[in-house]
Amino acid sequence: MMFSEFLEFIQSGQDGQSSTQTQPFARPSAVIGSSLSRVDGPLKTTGSAAYASDYNFPRMVYAVPVGATIASGKIRRIDATAAEKMPGVLLVLHHGNVAPLFRNASGGRNSESRPPLEDDTVYYWGQYIALAVAETFQQAQAAAAVVRVEYDTDKFNVATSLDDSMPAVGATGGPRVLSKRGDPDSAFASAPVQVDATYVTPAETHNPMEMHATVAVWDGKKFTLYESSQGVVNHRNVMAQVLGVPKENVEIVSRFIGSGFGGKLFPWPHSALAAVAARQLNRPVKLTLSRKMMFSNVGHRPRTQQRIRLGATPEGKLVSIQQDYRNHTSLVDDVRENCGEATPFLYSVANLHVSSALVKRNVGTPTPMRGPGAVPGLFALESAMDELAIKLKKDPVELRLAHDTLIDEEKNKPFSSRHLKECLQVGATNFGWSRRTPEVGSMRNGDLILGWGVAVASWGAGRGVAEATVNLRSDGTARVSSATQDPGTGTYTIVAQIVSDKTGIPTDKIQVVLGDSSLVPGPTSGGSTATATIIPAVADAANAAIQILLTTAVRAKGSPFLQKDPASLTMTAGCVHAKGQSPETGVPFQDVLRMGNLASANGDGKSAGLGSDTKARDYSTHSFGAQFVEVEWDPGIAKLRVSRVVSVIDGGRILNKKTATNQIAGAVVMGIGMGLLEQTTYDPRNGHPINDNFADYLVPTSADSPQIDVHFLDIPDPMMGEYGARGIGEIGLAGIAPAITAAVYHATGVRVRELPVRVEDLLTSRVLV
Ligand code: MOS
Repeated sequence: MMFSEFLEFIQSGQDGQSSTQTQPFARPSAVIGSSLSRVDGPLKTTGSAAYASDYNFPRMVYAVPVGATIASGKIRRIDATAAEKMPGVLLVLHHGNVAPLFRNASGGRNSESRPPLEDDTVYYWGQYIALAVAETFQQAQAAAAVVRVEYDTDKFNVATSLDDSMPAVGATGGPRVLSKRGDPDSAFASAPVQVDATYVTPAETHNPMEMHATVAVWDGKKFTLYESSQGVVNHRNVMAQVLGVPKENVEIVSRFIGSGFGGKLFPWPHSALAAVAARQLNRPVKLTLSRKMMFSNVGHRPRTQQRIRLGATPEGKLVSIQQDYRNHTSLVDDVRENCGEATPFLYSVANLHVSSALVKRNVGTPTPMRGPGAVPGLFALESAMDELAIKLKKDPVELRLAHDTLIDEEKNKPFSSRHLKECLQVGATNFGWSRRTPEVGSMRNGDLILGWGVAVASWGAGRGVAEATVNLRSDGTARVSSATQDPGTGTYTIVAQIVSDKTGIPTDKIQVVLGDSSLVPGPTSGGSTATATIIPAVADAANAAIQILLTTAVRAKGSPFLQKDPASLTMTAGCVHAKGQSPETGVPFQDVLRMGNLASANGDGKSAGLGSDTKARDYSTHSFGAQFVEVEWDPGIAKLRVSRVVSVIDGGRILNKKTATNQIAGAVVMGIGMGLLEQTTYDPRNGHPINDNFADYLVPTSADSPQIDVHFLDIPDPMMGEYGARGIGEIGLAGIAPAITAAVYHATGVRVRELPVRVEDLLTSRVLV
């Protein structure tokens, strides 16, 4: 999905009225920016945190989907009689007998537009064509294996080259010019120095530790779905549409999530299958995806092919940037990977053009994967910038510094807070960039050849609409809740920190309740927007609860503040006291509540979306970063390793140094996967994603992980509310892959333009020790 579409999505759905004010540079307490450990950590490390598939209910049964074994065609006949006769088998659903499931037209954002088992058509290998339900998981698996299917097979296409012209598709699928200024064609044609190259990124599969799962409970009227979801509110809205019931009859519970990387942003068909089986059998149904199904049924980052043309003067001034890209999409949906997300504003340039086209393939529907668009897009643009620097004989850091801009030249608006220059400078210093010698193969460490590469990172900074409630309770604790969720990023922890900052109540006395759609509506954890979205609502709710407390303090019998002006009071360190005095002179908040005979002081808060913030409309909001990478190339045994990474991030104020560093370091490791290991391979014989397991689809392990130094500029963004925090879930991945390929070129002289870098690519290196 395009980031702009994502912003529109998160900013829609609710009235954006709010009492939240933009008050930049408030001085928070020491809890903000601290390295507080995750408040949910003990639950996770002791195994007591319940993930979706950990829920069990009396009379629960198990469902196992049957996937198509062709990539295109029609189901001629489906025969479940043998399966139905097997021990413990209760039901085999298929398109011929499933109770209707509906398309989702307006209830929210779906991953695959087509409901499961809609008809007899197969669009991709693995598509669900049946569902076996039995008393035990093993019985359901055995039944799924004997469902007999006969197909009329059609021609299909899983070709990797995206050169073919796009077949006619819906209006949204056609080639599009996404950005244009000046006269890029003639500026390029007349530029004395040119780069014209095509860069390719493969299909990649999200591989969170926790696989997707649904435990569906139907009580005769209402569905409760235990899910692994990055967006419980949207999931509820979509499921209400797909199941044909009112929203209030669906509740989504997603207390803990073993990460998602975008694969769990929007509901996938298995959720509806589990629900419909639960309703039909009137029994709870557990459906867990296998790792194998993760490769065909729950999205992927689509393959991209991007032609970049850069034109420059011999002195090194960029005069034209052109990016023409394609990405594959499925037969059932038009998903545009927004590879041009950062191109129009990253560098100062007068002439620019970005265009995009979709190419249909018989694959499951693609979906956002960590830094969708920007991450593959920056692989192309930043690789081309490195190639240009080499042609110009310029230092690649210098080339980028020379084109830094504080104005978004596409929107003609200033950036709210852009410190890309500082990222490059701090990164160069910390990495030791000044010691780099530019000649290929010129840096050694014993028998190893070192390569040093750099690239910059960018990702949109959004803020959507949300609500939160804060209760200050007479037992001396606080409770804060919102229907957002923590995909493992640290949302529980930063929410506790904000309440603690506002009230002075220690974080271990603050209960954070997330991950249930029945709470007041909170944001989807996507697009790196959840932090900036939820924080103002929590702060607003805390302020409202404190106001009730102060009003109580001036009214309650026996209060030392009786008849005082509530505006003369404040709350710090958990105590109500006169402004300007120390908290010890005051009264603990639980005593104030008792004096007023209140069980709790309850505050409701809201966040307004950036879109309805009149001040923010005048600014372009983004995060930035600089990635410095060292590779070691051992030509004797053809071994390549990323040995060192320095990542400098301009992500607004950092609320928690530990969770934030984890986000960036994790993204760096994922970037090594993107650079050196990951690709989903579709079998040309039948469209099967053939490396659908951890033996064949490689992700980095501890042994592949380099020394990683993460630095934050920690400069609050004045458009992001009083705390100035932007989300940082995705920015750390941007720029890693192109910094790796730049480093690989520096070490070996081989320019790899198609990811991942393979050892085979490097055998042509003429650099020898
Ligand atoms: Mo992210 S791809 O929005 O989970």
